[in-house]
Formats: sequence, C-alpha cells, structure tokens
Amino acid sequence: MKQLSPAQIVLMKKAGEMTKNALNYAESLIKPGISTNSLDNLISEYIIKHGGKPSFKNYFGYPKSTCISINEVVVHGIPSERKLKEGDIVSIDVGVEYKGYNGDAARTFPVGRISEEKQKLIDVTRESFFEGIKNLKAGERLGKLSSSIQNYVEKNGFSVVREMVGHGIGDKMHLEPNVPNYGKETDGPIVQENTCLAIEPMVNMGTRKIFVLEDGWTTITQDLMPSAHYENTVLILKDKVEILTL
Ligand code: MF3
Ligand code: CO
Repeated sequence: MKQLSPAQIVLMKKAGEMTKNALNYAESLIKPGISTNSLDNLISEYIIKHGGKPSFKNYFGYPKSTCISINEVVVHGIPSERKLKEGDIVSIDVGVEYKGYNGDAARTFPVGRISEEKQKLIDVTRESFFEGIKNLKAGERLGKLSSSIQNYVEKNGFSVVREMVGHGIGDKMHLEPNVPNYGKETDGPIVQENTCLAIEPMVNMGTRKIFVLEDGWTTITQDLMPSAHYENTVLILKDKVEILTL
C-alpha cells in the first residue's frame, strides 16, 4: 500500500467530493421511464462541468462513463436504451478523476415503490459497509474488515459475491491491495495509514454465484435474483477512517 503525501490527500478528498456530488445528482434523476443512457449522459456532463473526468470511460475498453446495473445485474451494467421501471432497483457506480487522483463510489437506489425484500437487500448491503469500516484500522489486518462484512451479510440471509472485490485507490483507480468482502480476520495485509481504499460490498439475495454476459462486462446473478452494491472511497489515517464519497 503506497502512502499518500498531505498534498495527495487533499486531491483525493477533492476527487471523493466530486464523486459524491455526481452520485447525489444521479439519485435526483431516478424515476420510472428514464433510460440508463440518459442517466449516463447526464452524469457524465455533470462530472465534466465540475472539472472532473469520468474515469470508467475507455477503462480497459469500457464504453460508457458509468456502470448502471438493474435488478439481477450485479455490477458493470452498460448503459443502454433500457428504461427504469417502477419496482426496479438500480445500482449506479461512478468514478471521477481529478488532477490525476480518483474517487470511486456506488449506491443502489429504489425506482418508485419496491418490495420489502428488495429494500432489505439495499439496507443490508449499505449497513455491511458500515459494519466493515468499524473494523478497519491502521495497523490491523484488512481481513477484520472483510470478515465483518461477510458475517453481517450472511447473518441477514444474503450472500457475498467473491469474484469481484474492492481495491486500493489513489493515482490510479485500481491499486493494491484487493479488498475482499469475505474471508477470515487473519487474512490480508496490515492496513497502512495515509492510504485510500475503495470498499464495495456486492450482495445477492439468492446464490452468490455470478455469470458474465458475452459483452464481457455485464455481471448477473446465476439465479437471476436481485443484487445490490454499495461503495465508498475511504481514507485511513493514523487513528481514524474518513469516508471521502459520502
Ligand atoms: N467501481 C468499479 C470498480 O471498482 C468500476 C470499474 S468498471 C469500469 O471496479 F468500467 F471502469 F471498468
Ligand atoms: Co471500485
């Protein structure tokens, strides 16, 4: 884990704030009938207007600025002409680069009225992040975070996706270490101070098993049951953790 200088931390905070603002703007646009392409275009324009760069665009050939994942789509849904409809849940994942530094965050939103079970899935996914960061501390093993996320999710009857994980973040969107949302307390590296991580539980209502479609991106649940995603970029300091995208 490469440690950040005070000047780099300032830029990470700025990138995080821009990411947070873009997601808040995204939330304000959600309504039945809007297409995921329209959401992507509006969010992209918003990021650029505020001096940032949508970091997902062209990342390993990714064709859009955001990932928008409806219902059984776990992550990396590619914006299209598909329209949101009442009762859907929609995960929006946004990355912003500012002066070479990166913010990365995601939320799952309800579209109009949704079932109680889908609302519980959204809530447990978000809460698993907060359970996790209670156990994230400089000098401790990263596995304490990972295992507490897994325990919280499974205690609530849902499952954790394993094939995709969170990551270090800084002057690139993806840095060491991997940040799994499962595992043992004794797993992983010792967390270093003055570093940033993107922590991003992906939680399925049914099986944890996933499947990637032929477009090479769209990741869906094998049983086609819904999935939710919650991600923040966090800054680990000597004796506290700050959430940069909330
Ligand atoms: N938040 C995601 C991640 O951490 C999004 C990257 S997707 C891509 O991996 F489109 F940029 F590739
Ligand atoms: Co991420």
